[in-house]
Amino acid sequence: MRQELPPPPLPTVDGGFATILADPPWRFANRTGKVAPEHRRLDRYSTMSLDDICALPVDQHTACNAHLYLWVPNALLPEGLTVMESWGFRYVSNIVWAKRRKDGGPDGRGVGFYFRNVTELILFGVKGSLRTLSPARSQVNMIETRKREHSRKPDEQYDLIERCSPGPYLELFARYPRQGWSVWGDEANGNCPPRGRVHKGYTGGAIEADPANWLADDHKPDGSNNPAGE
Ligand SMILES: C[S@@+](CC[C@H](N)C(=O)[O-])C[C@H]1O[C@@H](n2cnc3c(N)ncnc32)[C@H](O)[C@@H]1O
Repeated sequence: MRQELPPPPLPTVDGGFATILADPPWRFANRTGKVAPEHRRLDRYSTMSLDDICALPVDQHTACNAHLYLWVPNALLPEGLTVMESWGFRYVSNIVWAKRRKDGGPDGRGVGFYFRNVTELILFGVKGSLRTLSPARSQVNMIETRKREHSRKPDEQYDLIERCSPGPYLELFARYPRQGWSVWGDEANGNCPPRGRVHKGYTGGAIEADPANWLADDHKPDGSNNPAGE
C-alpha cells in the first residue's frame, strides 16, 4: 500500500469557486464485510467516512451562487444527498453516466448486489440562485461512453460542465490536472500515479454504435460473457 500523506488544504479563489466537481472516496462495506474499494489486495485508494466528507469546508470555498456536480454510487444515494446539503447545496437534478460497450450496448461488466450496474450518477446541486448557462437547455442529462480504469470517470464530464456552469472551476478528489481548473486531492499533484490497475478492455475509445447489437452481455448469441468483451 502507498504511504498515506495528509492532503493539502482546499484551494481558494477570490469570490469563491462557482462550480465544484467532486468524486469522493466513499467508504462502504460489501457483502463479505470487507471495506471497498480500499481492500488491501486491490491497492486502490484510501476512503473517507461520511462524517469526514461532510466536514470538508467546501461551503467556505464556493461563491454565494454556485453549482455542484457530485458523483455518488447507486448504493449511497442518501449519503450523497447528505454530503450535498452539508456543503451548502440543494439537490435539483442529476446526470447519468451510461457505460457503453464498443458496439454501443450497455456494458454489463460492472458489479452490483441487487442489479448489475451499468450506470453511475452525478447529483447536481445549486447553492444560492444560479441557472445553468444557455447551452444547458439543449444538454441531455446523460453521458454515454466506454469505461476506463477502476473508478475513473469519463472526460466528457468536463466539456459538459464547462458548457453548463460558470467558472472558476474546482475539482475535489481529482487525479489529473486539467487546464482552466483548480484541482485538489491526495493524488492530484500530477506526480502521483493513480492506484488501481488498468484492465484489458478498459481503455475507453469511441462507441461504434449499431443498435442491432444492443444485446446485454449475457444474451449474446454465443452465450459468452467475456469480461474483456471486445
Ligand atoms: C473515486 S477516486 C477519484 C477518481 C477520479 N474522479 C477519476 O476519475 O480518476 C477518489 C480519490 O480521492 C482520493 N482520496 C482518498 N482519501 C482522501 C483524502 N483524505 N483527502 C484527499 N483525497 C483523498 C483518492 O486517493 C482518490 O484519488
